[in-house]
Amino acid sequence: MNTPATNAIDYDRYDRIRPIRWTGEALELLDQRKLPFTVEYVICTDSDAVAEAIHSLTVRGAPAIGIAAAWGTVLATRAVDAPDGASALAAIEPALQRLNASRPTAVNLAWALARMRRVLATAGADWREVLEREAQAIADEDLAANRHMGALGAALIAPGSGVMTHCNTGSLATAGFGTALGVIRAGVAQERIAHVFAGETRPWLQGARLTAWELQQDGIAPTLVADAAASHLMKSGQVQWVIVGADRICANGDTANKIGTYQLAIAARHHGVKFMVVAPASTVDMDTPSGDRIEIEERDPGELFGVGGVRTAANEIAAWNPVFDVTPHELIDAIVTERGVIERPDADAMRAAFGG
Ligand code: MRU
Repeated sequence: MNTPATNAIDYDRYDRIRPIRWTGEALELLDQRKLPFTVEYVICTDSDAVAEAIHSLTVRGAPAIGIAAAWGTVLATRAVDAPDGASALAAIEPALQRLNASRPTAVNLAWALARMRRVLATAGADWREVLEREAQAIADEDLAANRHMGALGAALIAPGSGVMTHCNTGSLATAGFGTALGVIRAGVAQERIAHVFAGETRPWLQGARLTAWELQQDGIAPTLVADAAASHLMKSGQVQWVIVGADRICANGDTANKIGTYQLAIAARHHGVKFMVVAPASTVDMDTPSGDRIEIEERDPGELFGVGGVRTAANEIAAWNPVFDVTPHELIDAIVTERGVIERPDADAMRAAFGG
């Protein structure tokens, strides 16, 4: 692992969007189904509303769904009258199961719920305060991790580079600043990155709808490319790094991320372009030995039949819609977490960094 030179970053300029707001009574979620043309928050007052918001992608991105589930846990206790944390935990267990089932691939969801369960199980009469403090700590730690990873990842990039990213890994997908997009923000601020290409990320268009809009808020002008243009772009020499996030990083470094990431990694290796994965330690799952053990979420094939509610595919056809894929660790040049940079990740390097 190496340590970077951290140049100061103006977070007031580069970190303005907040997808998750806790009011003390309710959870407000920036509705990512409606961006970029409508900026509107959905208000959740119970944990099932949070589970539904995670399932329907109102809130999305691995760290963000973990944070939303943590606040969902707080909401689940609203009607509970219990003398201590262990009794409260027993009362909300069915609600926690429903939150846990809302999306399968991103490990941050189960990680956040396990952390909330752990503090509640041992809390005394002040369990409500303990639980709320833990949810806030999960959010605060994610923001701090992202800012640190931004500096670590940017330090790997030579001045004047072009980068390509996939899906949305920014403030919208986290507590703020972003993972891969945090590295890109830091890299632009430090003038290491001269050009950002964002892949559309079909079928849900996280790149076109979310990443392009989010970078615009910072005054960064990305160039949108069709997912199918990636290899051609790399061949042109305009891109030195592909920088992506992760939904789950296994004990051997295999990484699940948005569908299309795997083919980007193959194309990057073929063209001599470096491939960086950026994710907080909460995305690392040392209990899953390799990527073939990850459950890959499959969503409604209807997502493939049209754009913006307008049907574009022929009627009465079949479609297959896996929304994540697994990039083998051999294709990854660097995994960046808040604990440091792992170059050429494998099981030994992951064990050295994360134990287990
Ligand atoms: O289906 P999504 O939009 O939740 O998928 C998100 C991604 O795959 C992101 O790249 C990943 O969660 C990292 S977000 C910091």
